[in-house]
Amino acid sequence: MTDRYAVIGNPISHSKSPQIHQMFAEQTGQDISYEKIEAPLDGFAETIERLRNDGYKGCSVTVPFKFEAFKLANSVSESVIDTFDSGENADAVNTLDFRNLKIVGYNTDGSGLLKDITINRQFNISKKRVLLLGAGGAAYGVLHPLLNEEPKELVITNRTLEKAQRIEKKIRGTAKFPVTSVSWSSYSDLSKKQFDLVINATSAGLTDSELPLPPTIFAPNALAYDMMYGRETPFMKFARDHGAQVADGLGMLVEQAAEAFYLWRGVQPDTAPVIAALRLT
Ligand code: ATR
Repeated sequence: MTDRYAVIGNPISHSKSPQIHQMFAEQTGQDISYEKIEAPLDGFAETIERLRNDGYKGCSVTVPFKFEAFKLANSVSESVIDTFDSGENADAVNTLDFRNLKIVGYNTDGSGLLKDITINRQFNISKKRVLLLGAGGAAYGVLHPLLNEEPKELVITNRTLEKAQRIEKKIRGTAKFPVTSVSWSSYSDLSKKQFDLVINATSAGLTDSELPLPPTIFAPNALAYDMMYGRETPFMKFARDHGAQVADGLGMLVEQAAEAFYLWRGVQPDTAPVIAALRLT
């Protein structure tokens, strides 16, 4: 019998996840279906309940429901930073598994990003200076695996400084390297520094908004990684214009999907041909 999965978001029409999972299923001979479902903004929990009642085996969760997915899960895996002593009890979950009558939450975004950076792009993060732009769901999702890579330092900056400070507080006790948050409105704080890896986890690219970064921010051979995909964002153009290597988030998208596929099906798909196929569409 075909096992059913879906990706839940709002909006969702742009999602490439059904295409990706279909390619994985063909590659591995798994009998699954995977569709996209738009949940009402105030109806995420009801949508999940309906899917479970209809016998779906799991789902992917995307914007804006990743924090709600965390709250809804009966338990979360280590990929979600529930182990941090922040008392905040807020984290992002992008994959739910409905087997065994429970909702188990995972976050495969971070490991997907790290795989794309370290394996596909052969960029070693250890001992590098990392700047994380943004402090929303996408930023939360990458923290745990980023910490495991042990960069030299992590600086978090965000339009709303308090949210960056919340992340700093959350991970400070766990990180084995300096973690700081800075305001990007005080431009001078950032203009004194250079970074080897700059990760754009903001959604500013959706509205083609420029980020107020100093042009000197990129160290020689720096990698500028935008989690968005599909077109060049102002951040990507800015980084290219100022000498950085640039990556979009397509590889991350496929890698996080592969991780979810593995969690659900126990089979590891080959991501390279899927990334290549999507680049042609
Ligand atoms: P996601 O799940 O995609 O991270 P989110 O939780 O709404 O979505 O977070 C969006 C992130 O992008 C936030 O860091 C947000 O900054 P604020 O915390 O100040 O809202 C950032 N962001 C969105 N639009 C932006 C813009 N035009 N310029 C700068 N940052 C922006």
